[in-house]
Amino acid sequence: MIDAISIGIHPTTQSRINELDLDNLVFGHTFADHMFVADFDGKEWTDLRIVPYGDMPFKPALMPLHYGQAIFEGMKAYKSEDGEVLVFRPYDNARRLNRSAHRLCMAEIPEDIFMCGLTELLRLDAQWVPQRDNYSLYIRPFMFATDEYIGVSPSKTYRFIIFNCPVGAYYSKPVKVKVETEYVRAAPGGTGAAKCAGNYAASLYPAKLAQEAGYDQLIWTDGKEHKYVEEAGTMNFMFIIDGKLVTPAVSDSILDGITRKSIVQIAKDWGMTVEERKVSVEELIEGIKNGRLQEAFGAGTAAVVSPIYAIGHEGVDYNLPEIKPDNFANRVKRYLDDVKYGRVADPHEWVYQI
Ligand code: COI
Repeated sequence: MIDAISIGIHPTTQSRINELDLDNLVFGHTFADHMFVADFDGKEWTDLRIVPYGDMPFKPALMPLHYGQAIFEGMKAYKSEDGEVLVFRPYDNARRLNRSAHRLCMAEIPEDIFMCGLTELLRLDAQWVPQRDNYSLYIRPFMFATDEYIGVSPSKTYRFIIFNCPVGAYYSKPVKVKVETEYVRAAPGGTGAAKCAGNYAASLYPAKLAQEAGYDQLIWTDGKEHKYVEEAGTMNFMFIIDGKLVTPAVSDSILDGITRKSIVQIAKDWGMTVEERKVSVEELIEGIKNGRLQEAFGAGTAAVVSPIYAIGHEGVDYNLPEIKPDNFANRVKRYLDDVKYGRVADPHEWVYQI
């Protein structure tokens, strides 16, 4: 099926690969040579092409600039010791992108176009996949409306793009997070489960306030009572309580994270009890005080597994137990890395080889 799709391939004549400096890489600022582009003309996806990463002209009336029909995904490719390019769970990203498209009233992208575009793009940009531990090629598929119109209605036309950034760690050390009890990231019935641009825009001001107060990130809480933990926007939250893996159940206000669900599966494979349920802020704070909360960490594509060393709530910072090399968070990160870099068997067939 994938081979039946025809893509116009226009390689760059001026590769920038020699400028790639992994030792001085800042997350998200370096872009690989090419991008895959497809346009939805109101009826079908057309003009599938791979072109040099570069400018795109647009007019001021472009609808997403006004009304926000813009969705995205994040996934990563890794290079094995043998030089194979391995992508972690790309079909899950394709499906989630289409769930976001559905919620934002946008065109859906057929899975075979997504996968074919991704495969051809990574064949061309294979040299951009770093062959180094903790480094990968962050892949950014995204879609936006392309009608020019200032009435509020769904656009009829869309553009889908995939481009790539070689990256190292998003958080280079354990993080300190603040429980947000004033602002809200997502409300029941809203767009919290969709990976849409507006969710991230709405998070910026509260996150800036938290950063000014010395925190790395927010723990968003539910939009009704600020009583239950939701997610961070950049990652899902997971906790080890009484030896069990506990994580907020996904809902219409929490993103269905692919790293999150991979860790849930691994914990089950390892024989741990996993609870996906509501987690109250009170349970966390009490758990820190009485020692039942052993670990807290974030999980996401960019963030990977990010241990949390302190949680701030209502002006008090609560320190978590020391983060040790054999903590669950560190063990699961090492195992996930082994799967992603092709060093161990892949029992759930999560790895897609280019
Ligand atoms: C991802 O983890 O892929 C995200 O989209 C989060 C963003 C902070 C880079």
